[in-house]
Amino acid sequence: MCVVGLGYIGLPTAAFIASKGVKVTGVDVNMSYVDTINRGEVPFVEPGFDVLLRQVVKDGLLEARADQVEADAYIVCVPTPFKENHAVDTKYINSAVEAMAPHLRPGALVVLESTSPPGTTKAMAEYIIELRPDLSLNEDDENAIFVAHCPERVLPGQIMEEMENNDRVIGGLTPKGTKLAVDLYGTFCTAELLETDATTAEMAKLTENSFRDVNIAFANELSLISDRLGIDVWELIELANHHPRVNILQPGPGVGGHCIAVDPWFIVSSTPEEAKMIKLARDVNDGKPQYVLGKVEDAISKIESPVIAALGIAFKADIDDLRESPSLNIVRELAESNSDLDIRVVEPNIGDLPVSLADFVNIKLQDLDKAISEADVVLLLVDHKEFKKIDRSTLAGKTIIDTRGVWR
Ligand SMILES: NC(=O)c1ccc[n+]([C@@H]2O[C@H](COP(=O)([O-])OP(=O)(O)OC[C@H]3O[C@@H](n4cnc5c(N)ncnc54)[C@H](O)[C@@H]3O)[C@@H](O)[C@H]2O)c1
Repeated sequence: MCVVGLGYIGLPTAAFIASKGVKVTGVDVNMSYVDTINRGEVPFVEPGFDVLLRQVVKDGLLEARADQVEADAYIVCVPTPFKENHAVDTKYINSAVEAMAPHLRPGALVVLESTSPPGTTKAMAEYIIELRPDLSLNEDDENAIFVAHCPERVLPGQIMEEMENNDRVIGGLTPKGTKLAVDLYGTFCTAELLETDATTAEMAKLTENSFRDVNIAFANELSLISDRLGIDVWELIELANHHPRVNILQPGPGVGGHCIAVDPWFIVSSTPEEAKMIKLARDVNDGKPQYVLGKVEDAISKIESPVIAALGIAFKADIDDLRESPSLNIVRELAESNSDLDIRVVEPNIGDLPVSLADFVNIKLQDLDKAISEADVVLLLVDHKEFKKIDRSTLAGKTIIDTRGVWR
């Protein structure tokens, strides 16, 4: 079988299937990923995953390559970003299909695992047929291929646990497509495999992340209200959560990552008239970085030649993933609008500043102790474990802006 796209999702999926003795070819257009993986090395941070990858590569069960191959089944795990208007950009799915189409034979299964708006799996299948009119989507035809959607819901950082143990929603374009996909995922997933149709499977993933986004927006809105009223929002939420049926999430500097900050837009762009609350939640969460920036601007305006320690630029705790990170955007905007502000970034999960920050002469990547000791303002953006452990006495006399409630 073949996994197309060997990133945070595709590579662990390929390695888990290979670990069950299935020969897997992984295809990625990024040659440096292909080379790294074939050396048995993981091209990103994922705790515990290196051992599994090394083993399946050593056993010859997983091989990465840049060109497409013939296979019985394909799982497509390419990026699905949104365009300026927040509609999905299917260019990566389309290019994956263009590479795959010449190799498809009757009976093949194609599963789209990339998070996608309702209707994307069907559109992908129709594009395959446009390129290969000799194949059919009618499952009773001899030349039928089978197409399904199976969204991924693992948490980066916990993939070793969740890849096998999370329940999966699996929806085919036809009943046989569902069944073949269930059989494939059953090779490595020990949890429940929930059968539905492709559009419902697409919406299920988007609904899960929109649920999280709306609930985080509620917490973020409470943080603004609490500031206005002079209340500690963390205490407020802790007290309210003692109610047996209340479970408010935690506020932060915004919402980031490849999923929660992106997926709700796929519902909004599909059904803009109806998705009012989902859109409002996006706006509340996207507005939070500006609010944090306002607090920082206020703090530095009172200090001559201020030095600020910005703790964390990943989109959440204890990972190196910077995608859609509100913390990274806050640091970049601070540097852009304050060329004389001395910014010390502390990010224990990366070795170098990302390209988007590297050109700023007023930003340095520094270790935690040095950055704190030299800073006038300490801005905590991510609740990494290293930051939770710091000796509070080192913060004495400094202006603290704690967007995560770590040091309360
Ligand atoms: N990262 C997550 O936590 C997560 C969780 C659930 C779902 N998803 C979804 O899974 C999908 C993949 O996400 P990811 O985090 O693995 O992305 P990623 O950027 O880490 O990996 C995608 C890989 O696809 C490769 N690629 C792009 N076009 C290709 C093509 N035409 N052929 C072969 N390879 C190609 C890229 O080089 C890259 O290595 C997205 O739709 C995402 O929304 C991600």
